[in-house]
Amino acid sequence: MKFFVDTAEIDQIRELNDLGMVDGVTTNPSLIKKSGRDIIEVTKEICAMVSGPVSAEVTSTDADTMIAEGRKLVEIAPNIAVKVPLTWDGLKACKTLSSEGHMVNVTLCFSANQALLAAKAGASFISPFIGRLDDINLDGLELIENIRTIYDNYGFDTEILAASVRTTNHVSECALIGADVVTAPPAVIKSLANHPLTDKGLAAFMADIADTGQKIL
Ligand code: G3P
Repeated sequence: MKFFVDTAEIDQIRELNDLGMVDGVTTNPSLIKKSGRDIIEVTKEICAMVSGPVSAEVTSTDADTMIAEGRKLVEIAPNIAVKVPLTWDGLKACKTLSSEGHMVNVTLCFSANQALLAAKAGASFISPFIGRLDDINLDGLELIENIRTIYDNYGFDTEILAASVRTTNHVSECALIGADVVTAPPAVIKSLANHPLTDKGLAAFMADIADTGQKIL
């Protein structure tokens, strides 16, 4: 399973990228706002650092403007995936941009039917938002499972990019279900390394070696 990092914070991307943990990056208008950066400039910097797909989202809602914005975004770098919303206009933009050979990530997906439409419109990635479904007491992971089944039933090659990932459980469950990609905030990716028994075991090892008075360096 690929890891994309869901942020526009350059330093945080760099830290994870240096460890080989970053297969791509996803941004959205809220993440751009949080970064305080210019969308084109920060996207250019991310694309120069990360070789995998970098999702940059359009800032309009009608198909023609989304297509024009998408064509401008793909000029930034060859690894741009144009992110469009899962609306009828977004699907039109997806069809046009994907037919032109560009990667398209269709975002704000909340149902299996929406995912089916995105695949038929030629999306490279579909982004179902797990956490936001959980927020309204629906099962985000069940959606990932249903999309996996549907895509496999018909051989769609659109990659399932699980988004709105908030917990370590989301990550492991997506891996078990067979999501192609998980995009998660840096803090969630880093917390995958945590386990209380690791901390407890390490504390005991450190105490025992200190008791012997030995040091390697
Ligand atoms: O990848 C989508 C993500 O940025 C949305 O996450 O936590 O705002 O639902 P969240």
